[in-house]
Amino acid sequence: MADQDSKVGHNYCLDVPPASQGFFLKGMDHTDWGMKNRLARIFNPKSGHTVMLAFDHGYIMGSTAGLERLDIVIPPLADDVDVLMGTRGALRAAVPPTCDKAVALRCSAGSSVLDEDMSHEVIGVNVEDAIRMNAACMAIQTFIGAPGQKSSIQNLCNTIDAGNRYGIPTLGVIAVGKEMERTAKYFLLATRMVAEFGAQIIKTYYCDEFEKITSACPVPIVIAGGKKVAENEALAMCFRAIQEGAAGVDMGRNIFQSENPRAMVKAVAKIVHENATDKEAYDLYLSLKLSPKNALQPRVKTKTK
Ligand code: 5RP
Repeated sequence: MADQDSKVGHNYCLDVPPASQGFFLKGMDHTDWGMKNRLARIFNPKSGHTVMLAFDHGYIMGSTAGLERLDIVIPPLADDVDVLMGTRGALRAAVPPTCDKAVALRCSAGSSVLDEDMSHEVIGVNVEDAIRMNAACMAIQTFIGAPGQKSSIQNLCNTIDAGNRYGIPTLGVIAVGKEMERTAKYFLLATRMVAEFGAQIIKTYYCDEFEKITSACPVPIVIAGGKKVAENEALAMCFRAIQEGAAGVDMGRNIFQSENPRAMVKAVAKIVHENATDKEAYDLYLSLKLSPKNALQPRVKTKTK
């Protein structure tokens, strides 16, 4: 039995109101503690933003340029990102389990660049394996307006239901596929639909009138980087997206196909977390690019356009 005769005085702080439990991410006030805890690993509570490194390209594209050796390319970039986004195969094989970064686990699968219509996916990873992988969120692709729309929405909703049971957020990835448009009209429709289905985070592409999309989307949006462009252009897109309401980036090729991926990821983080301009970030990129400690293994250069 506990000793009732404690000599330590009580202090109930009767004049101090209870701590406010407001949460920093939009649309997430009414989610559970575990869900919020995972979201706070994905999004830095100080900046409210995230840098996700996407390297899940192999699940559709095979051995993508720049990702031939995941074990060499990914670990040195991990220090400067908040989240590693990959497939379970890539994570298990190439990322040491001692890595303490949040994991966005690619959970949809089923088509490849060889398919005419890439919009037919399935849920390739169930929630139990996502838990085994200690996933901070599960990523599912949706193909709004494509032949596979209905089944991709089913995949998304099933994953959201499973994630809600265990407090794991779902990242709804807006696919554009081969023929689908990349207009504000399309992204306004698709991001809002996926948010209303219950995805806690949305990944989409940057486009004109982007602030309308972030304004009408009730949950945080992160942008994909898209095809490799020159570093200053990628940083300018990143800057505009953050200024126009994005909560971060989930960037792949514009980091790992960069002439200097380590310098590039630091420059991206400077915009996302420190409110730097694209010019300041590009200056940082140029200065870091020269440092031998930022060099990864040499590899074949890719064309920028
Ligand atoms: C596509 C994805 C990819 O992870 C993402 O688009 C790749 O990033 P990037 O376009 O920046 O190379 O979710 O479904």
